[in-house]
Amino acid sequence: MKVQVDRRDALAAAPDVVASGVFERGEKAEPFPTSLKKEDEATRGLLRAAWERKEIRGKRREITIVHAPDGRGRILLVGLGPRESFRSESVRRAAADAVRSLKGRGARTLGFRLSPFVGDSVDAESAVRALIDGAVLGGYEFTRYQSKTEGGVEEIVVHLGEDHAREESALKKAVAEESEILDVVVWTRDLANLPADTATPERLAEEAQSLGKELGLKVTVFDERKLAEMHCGGILAVGSGSVHPPRLIVLEYPGGSKRGRTIAVVGKGITFDSGGISLKPGLNMSHMKFDKSGAVAVLGILRAAAMLKVPPRVVGVMCCAENLPSGSAYRPGDVVRTFNGKTIEVLNTDAEGRVVLSDGLGYAVQQYHPHELIDLATLTGAEVVALGDDTAGLVATDDKLAQGLLSASASTGEPLWRMPLTDYHRELVKSDVADVRNSTEIPPAGMLTAAAFLETFVGKTPWAHLDIAGPAYTTPTTRKYQPSYQNTGATAFGVRLVVRYLLDSGRAA
Ligand code: BES
Ligand code: ZN
Ligand code: ZN
Repeated sequence: MKVQVDRRDALAAAPDVVASGVFERGEKAEPFPTSLKKEDEATRGLLRAAWERKEIRGKRREITIVHAPDGRGRILLVGLGPRESFRSESVRRAAADAVRSLKGRGARTLGFRLSPFVGDSVDAESAVRALIDGAVLGGYEFTRYQSKTEGGVEEIVVHLGEDHAREESALKKAVAEESEILDVVVWTRDLANLPADTATPERLAEEAQSLGKELGLKVTVFDERKLAEMHCGGILAVGSGSVHPPRLIVLEYPGGSKRGRTIAVVGKGITFDSGGISLKPGLNMSHMKFDKSGAVAVLGILRAAAMLKVPPRVVGVMCCAENLPSGSAYRPGDVVRTFNGKTIEVLNTDAEGRVVLSDGLGYAVQQYHPHELIDLATLTGAEVVALGDDTAGLVATDDKLAQGLLSASASTGEPLWRMPLTDYHRELVKSDVADVRNSTEIPPAGMLTAAAFLETFVGKTPWAHLDIAGPAYTTPTTRKYQPSYQNTGATAFGVRLVVRYLLDSGRAA
């Protein structure tokens, strides 16, 4: 999707469709109260009549499309909901709804008028960013395997008009940055959506290597032989049931400033999670191609970090393996020795994410001594039960890091909720035969016992764990965080969030 900023009013520029927002009826709400020019009196009259007849109510997700009487194109009004609860996420969703409603309806260019989307709690810059976020993310479709596709909006233009023309240069800068991030998000979603026969651990390693070439990043791929030499028993055990061997992939972005901090980002990259010998039930098992979302997000984060030249040094670690049952698969009862020497008693081969992460976390800590460590993982079904499918669970051993991520989350609209990690959870992952066990016999607090397990491999490094099992992908039955996205598909949750954190963390330092 092409994204532009134009200082003219949308009506003067005449795109195929002009989009504007309308608050839910209530005090003073009225569609287009002052924003149409004199020559558009007729359109204004039409809209006002529709408003008075209650055809337009301004409710969220409500779309009204009218033709300008002179046939110069269409005007689209999208409901913003009540004025009191207006925030950037309302803008994101509205823009997504607008773009989606035009799918297959002969509109190539969509021009948003900026002023209706600016409000008490949403300044012009946030509104511009949110408009293009919503339009690009909501308009995204994974069409790689479809021979026929319906055309949709190809170009969006944000029109500043008289109200905001003076802020043109600042807003253009914001749009340039946001578009780069969105390009990366789209790229990440395309990769995360690939099925497991294609997106194997080897393929993810190739993607990392070609990214390294493209952007001048140092990339190291550890194959199964190297992993054995390094005693990465966790990742090897999980990958042992598949003909596609596991890979530990490390990317390094040197950082914008010489004496900057190092932030390590570690991702779970299970290219398919069948559960292994502890086989999952068949229903929705196809969703487990998204079990690589954490590692793919790490790849996206490194891509954006290098493109936007974020201040800190960033190390990305992708723990990639395919979890399948076979004669060579690891089994319940096995004990594996991991990179940092700690041992794991495997009680359930379906709790494989924490097993691959044990090597990746241990490696990141020992090799790079990062100032901060963030992991992203579609780790537990318990996270989805606890927080639903739009919110990620956050567990952090460092309040400043947690706060930084929560404030990044507030600005990108990717919801996070911090959960506690206590000795209660630590107690539950102790093993009778090894240092730690990968599953507990009692079910409660599954997201947090998983976090307690990971903590063993992090040590004292300030650490934040993002369990993205819920928000990493959407399904047709659940409408998830990604604005208006109705189909099953990857969201690249965490990319915008962590990139925002990396951009802002330099500002704070
Ligand atoms: N990949 C799954 C978690 C998951 C579930 C992600 C649903 C996305 C949607 C993970 O490997 C898993 O199977 N976890 C088990 C752990 C249990 C066996 C201790 C779970 O959550 O049931
Ligand atoms: Zn699993
Ligand atoms: Zn898994």
